[in-house]
Amino acid sequence: MSDPTVPALLVRDATPDDAAACARIYAPYVTDTAITFESVAPTADEMGRRIAEAQVRHAWMTLELDHTTVGYAYAGPFSGRDAYRWAAEVSVYLDSAHRGRGGGRALYGALLPRLADRGFRIAAACMTLPNDASLGLHEALGFERVATFADIGWKLGRWHSTAWLQKRLAPAAEGEPADLT
Ligand SMILES: CC(C)(COP(=O)(O)OP(=O)(O)OC[C@H]1O[C@@H](n2cnc3c(N)ncnc32)[C@H](O)[C@@H]1OP(=O)(O)O)[C@@H](O)C(=O)NCCC(=O)NCCS
Repeated sequence: MSDPTVPALLVRDATPDDAAACARIYAPYVTDTAITFESVAPTADEMGRRIAEAQVRHAWMTLELDHTTVGYAYAGPFSGRDAYRWAAEVSVYLDSAHRGRGGGRALYGALLPRLADRGFRIAAACMTLPNDASLGLHEALGFERVATFADIGWKLGRWHSTAWLQKRLAPAAEGEPADLT
């Protein structure tokens, strides 16, 4: 039985009302770290546009703790080229005060099955190195490292390397795949 004194984590589909919280969670990673290679933190309006766009063909999910949004995970196209359309790029961000408590696992635990249900076959993730938490989360969920790009991004006064990981969402199969939903 769950302990009523321990706040419950809730993962759900994002709504436009989550835009400001997602923008607030993401901003410090943009301005203070090289975890993301974006350099200008998106506004809440821009975050709302990204949420809506992701939900058309992929997914954007948020993590709530005591009715407050404390994290999110989403997917988008791996590449715009047509043959890649069964592959999705995924990403996940938690408010720094809420890391290391199962939130990342809970978000991906909902996001990855959703992508599989929609017909995606591969999830790919890119991370700036080092990032033990992100590498640990992805590997714990069955992602395998497939590439390292050395010194590929310049941010905050130095070069950064990235790793790419992938996970199969459906067994390898011959023949034409079913359409995405
Ligand atoms: C990366 C991130 C999403 C992970 O989420 P989290 O809630 O902290 O991770 P969880 O508590 O769900 O841990 C899940 C697994 O990840 C691994 N993990 C988490 N933190 C770790 C750490 N600091 N070092 C090594 N492994 C770690 C563990 O294997 C853990 O397994 P367990 O569930 O058996 O304990 C989160 O730390 C975060 O938002 N970091 C900053 C933003 C970021 O790096 N995003 C990813 C961009 S690629």
